[in-house]
Amino acid sequence: MGKKFKPLTPKYPHMLHGGDYNPDQWIDYPEIIEKDIELMKKAHINNVSLGIFSWAHLEPKKDVFEFEWLDKVIEKLYEAGIYINLATPSGARPHWLADEYPEVLRVDEKGVRAHFGFRHNHCMTSPVYRERVRIINTKLAQRYGKHPAVIMWHISNEYGGECHCPLCQQAFRDYLKEKYVTVEKMNHAWWARFWSHTYSSFDEVESPGAISETAINGLWLDWWRFTTYQTTDFMKNEIAAVKAVNPEIPVTTNMMGLYDGLCYPKLAKEIDFVSWDSYPYWHVPNENVKEAYTESFTHDYIRCLKMKPFILMESTTGTVNWRPVSKMKKPGMHRLAILNAIGHGAESGLYFQIRQSRGSAEKMHSAVISHTGTENTRVFKEVSELGADMKKISDLIYGSDNPAAVAIIYDKESKWALNQSNGPRNCGLDYDGLCTQYYKYFWQNGIGVDVLDSSADFKDYKIVIAPMLYMYHNDIQDKLRKYVEAGGILLSTAFSGVADENDLCFLGEATDEKLSDVFGMWVEEIDALFEEEFNETFFGNDTYKLRELCEVIHTTTAETLAVYGNDYYKDFPVITKNKYGKGIAYHIAANCEIQLIEKMCSLLAEEAKITGILGNVSIPDGIGINYRENEAKRYIFVGNFSDKEKTVSLSKTYTNILNDGVVFDDVKLEPYGIVILEEDV
Ligand code: GAL
Repeated sequence: MGKKFKPLTPKYPHMLHGGDYNPDQWIDYPEIIEKDIELMKKAHINNVSLGIFSWAHLEPKKDVFEFEWLDKVIEKLYEAGIYINLATPSGARPHWLADEYPEVLRVDEKGVRAHFGFRHNHCMTSPVYRERVRIINTKLAQRYGKHPAVIMWHISNEYGGECHCPLCQQAFRDYLKEKYVTVEKMNHAWWARFWSHTYSSFDEVESPGAISETAINGLWLDWWRFTTYQTTDFMKNEIAAVKAVNPEIPVTTNMMGLYDGLCYPKLAKEIDFVSWDSYPYWHVPNENVKEAYTESFTHDYIRCLKMKPFILMESTTGTVNWRPVSKMKKPGMHRLAILNAIGHGAESGLYFQIRQSRGSAEKMHSAVISHTGTENTRVFKEVSELGADMKKISDLIYGSDNPAAVAIIYDKESKWALNQSNGPRNCGLDYDGLCTQYYKYFWQNGIGVDVLDSSADFKDYKIVIAPMLYMYHNDIQDKLRKYVEAGGILLSTAFSGVADENDLCFLGEATDEKLSDVFGMWVEEIDALFEEEFNETFFGNDTYKLRELCEVIHTTTAETLAVYGNDYYKDFPVITKNKYGKGIAYHIAANCEIQLIEKMCSLLAEEAKITGILGNVSIPDGIGINYRENEAKRYIFVGNFSDKEKTVSLSKTYTNILNDGVVFDDVKLEPYGIVILEEDV
């Protein structure tokens, strides 16, 4: 039975439908704004994000504020029943600010300070920028923080990137001083005796990069940790300003899915709920299903940052404008993508953007209202139909839970270390791709998955999968050992448990630090394969290709389930199973083709006695299933992400809440079709 969560936005506790609206681009065209609002009503839009890049119009000169235009827009929207996510404008700054205070501009790793322009490129340390942001945020909060239309603060926009200016260098040194206290400790953690790079004082530290240090892996790790720390600190400064006026309005910031520049689990601690901007690359030939499970994995990662529903803050109604080839969404794809997000815990379908801009870099990006300015477009019609659907299902689904029996560990800091490891393979180790491949089987079969980093608690899951968890930190060894001991089922894969939190390799042959006791085996060496090279293994009734990384392992207590077919490690174990305490720990010593991954996942599910949410039926490829539950009902989202009609067999009768139809035996899904099946819990 699922939980019922408190509304993310208590002032308007419903599914949000709408998106970014930039009326400041249309101030000289009041009739367009009027028309837009009319069209928004027709499209069942109840929510817009305002002011994301409005700083120059809110504070055209230093300390000169102009809010009247925004007052008018907010009033008109509110009258039309449209609620507002009010943004703080720090994502892009006015000219005067950069001209008067060049320190707000970012410095790149070669020490070059940017000129004015673009966006998302300010220094996170600059006291001047922080102060100017505090002032404008406070003004906005004083003016609108208690307005009945304002339901959340949209803090900045897509925080990201790094700055190497002198202020950031000093802040980095201070961060290190606090972390290590003595320079000797830092030298040890960074293994800085290597190549005689020992530091004799914290003052010698510089950020890593193209013209400075690149050889010290621990330095890179700490630099990225610092970047997250500094960005979070910057964000806290923004939040403090708006919360000081009205602490009741929740704050969020829009994240970028699996973005590598920040460790989102840390950032997420400081906001009331998580939101994210989702732009999958739909319709790439033969890649749609892969895109779909990657997207679903990302929704689950985002949901698990706070273990509660989230807001899909941006997505596109049609085409983006920044891909090499920006495809339109084919009919049905938009509805499928948004309802799929809702199935994974989103309480919204929000788009960039409501109205297509007329000029500059995003004029070709699609919107609810295109350059035609009318409702006579396919996109507008699809958006309005979806808006009507969302209204219909909102009260049923809003606030419901996404129960999961499986956890996949997706750990950003480990990924940083992995990518920086100067390892056996410095190319093509697709960590995200591997984690999502382990997700696919569960997604297809309707088995709920939580995607968590290693700081999480795993004790309540039936299955835990830790693909290529290169770095063991956050006491993960202790947690996983206890988990398996108590009866859990664990699977790890090649190149796991190599290094500690400083990226120092674990020493010793079979050691507890490497979880050798739990897996009943130890790794002697690791071979890297060229792109076109394969090894193979025979498992069950099939032969599977192994690729990229092949560990040569020795079992101690583990049973060997499959062996390598070729090379000098032919007949060495490649899949092992170790009974430990009341549980089982599996290891796959090589990267492999997805068919073997799916086979392993089905074996784990069998072992854990978990079946898909639709019962014992076989689900065709191309289908993705997820579900939400509250105290009384379960809602099962069955989507067809392929371009072929698919039939899913059912073992009982359900109601499809999208059309109130009763479904039994078979459900036929047209390309990009979706049903939401209701049942009692
Ligand atoms: C997002 C950004 C939006 C818009 C959009 C275009 O990353 O937050 O402002 O630029 O991309 O796809």
